[in-house]
Amino acid sequence: MEPTYRPVISSTGLFTPEESISNEELVTSFNAYVAKFNAENAAAIEAGTVEALAPSSVEFIEKASGIKARHVMAKEPILDIETMAPRWPERSNDEVSVLAEIGVKAAQQALENAGRKAEDVDAVLCAASNMERPYPAMAIEIQQALGIDGFGFDMNVACSSATFGIQTAADYIRAGNARSVLVVSPEITSGHLNWRDRDSHFIFGDVATAVLVEDAAMAPADHWEILGTKLKTVFSNNIRNNFGYLNRAHPETSGAADKLFVQEGRKVFKEVVPMVAKMIIEHAGQIDIDPTGLRRMWLHQANTGMNRLIAHKVLGHEANDDESPTVLDTYGNTSSAGSIIAFHKHSKDLKSGDNGLICSFGAGYSAGTVFVRKA
Ligand code: COA
Repeated sequence: MEPTYRPVISSTGLFTPEESISNEELVTSFNAYVAKFNAENAAAIEAGTVEALAPSSVEFIEKASGIKARHVMAKEPILDIETMAPRWPERSNDEVSVLAEIGVKAAQQALENAGRKAEDVDAVLCAASNMERPYPAMAIEIQQALGIDGFGFDMNVACSSATFGIQTAADYIRAGNARSVLVVSPEITSGHLNWRDRDSHFIFGDVATAVLVEDAAMAPADHWEILGTKLKTVFSNNIRNNFGYLNRAHPETSGAADKLFVQEGRKVFKEVVPMVAKMIIEHAGQIDIDPTGLRRMWLHQANTGMNRLIAHKVLGHEANDDESPTVLDTYGNTSSAGSIIAFHKHSKDLKSGDNGLICSFGAGYSAGTVFVRKA
C-alpha cells in the first residue's frame, strides 16, 4: 500500500525589527514634509498650477486602520523629510542580503520551536510580496545560510504569499516530495511604501515570519493539523505596484510614484470583505466545519474594520479580540506575514481539538484559507 502523508504545522518563528515608529512620530515627519513642500511651491500653489499638499493626522490613521505604530528596519531615513525611505549600505555578494538575514532569524526560531535540525528540512519557500533581487533566489540563500540540503524557490502572491506558501508546502508533503518544508516570509514593506503619500504612508511595517510545515509522522507532539487549504485569485488593479526590471525600458518614468505601492483603499475594502467571507464559509462547508464554531481566526492584518466585518460574517456575531486578535496596533500591515504574526503570538492558549483559521487577502486580488486544529 502507498504510504499516506498528512501535512501539519509544526511550529512558527517571528523576527521583529527593534526600531518602531509611532503614529505621532510619523505624522510629525509627514507634516514637516508637507509644510516644506507647500512653502517651496507657494507661488505655483497660489497660481493654481501646483496643488497644495494636505497634512496627515494621528486620529485619522488610528480610526481608519487601527494602526498605532509599525516596526521598521531603518527608522531615521524614513523620518528624515529629505529621504523618506529606508536606507542602508549596499551589501557585497559575499554578505548575506537583508531579506535573507531576517528570514533566517525567523526560520531559526521556527526550527528551535519544533526541536528540528536544519539537516532534517527538505525545502525552503521564500514567500513574500517583494524580493530583494530576481536571482539567485532568496530561498536558496536562506537554505544555504541554515545548512539545508534540498531545494528552495521564491514565490510572490503579495499579501497572500504565506498562505499560498503553506498550501504549496502541504502539497509537497501530501505528494511525498518532501517531509519538512520551511515557509519563510521576510516582509520589508517599508521599501515599497510611498512615505510621501498621505493616503497610504501609515499602512506598512517590516517583519519576518516562518512556518514549518511537516508530515505528521515526524512532527512534534505539540502541532497543528491542517484540515484544509484553499487559494483564490481574481485580477484587480486596485492594489498595484509597477516596479520591475522592465522599468529600465522607460527610464523617464522609473522614479514615478506608481513604482511603489498604490491602492484604491475604499474599493479594496468593499470588494475584498465579501469575497473573503464567502470563501471562508464555502471552504468550511467543503471540509465539514461549522464556521460559527471556530475558536479563533488569525486574519490578514490590513485594517481592523475589514477584519471586524469578515469575522462577523463568518462567526455570525461581533467577534471579540480573543476570537479575532489583532497585531495591527503595533505592527501595522506587514503584508503576507500579518496573519502568521497573529497566529504565532495568539495561539498557545488553544486546547487540543480547537479549530482555527489562518486567512490572508490582498493584492492580485489574492486570498488563502488554512483551517487548522490543535493536536
Ligand atoms: N490623514 C488625514 N486624513 C486623511 C488621510 C491622512 N493620512 N488620508 C486620507 N485622509 C482623508 C481623505 O482625504 C478623505 O477625506 P474626504 O472625505 O474629505 O475626501 C477621508 O480621510 C477618507 O479617506 P479614505 O481614503 O476614504 O479613507 P478610508 O476610511 O477608506 O481609510 C484605508 C483608508 C486605506 C485605511 C482603508 O481604505 C483601508 O484599509 N482599505 C483596505 C486596504 C487594504 O486592505 N489594502 C490591502 C493592502 S495589502
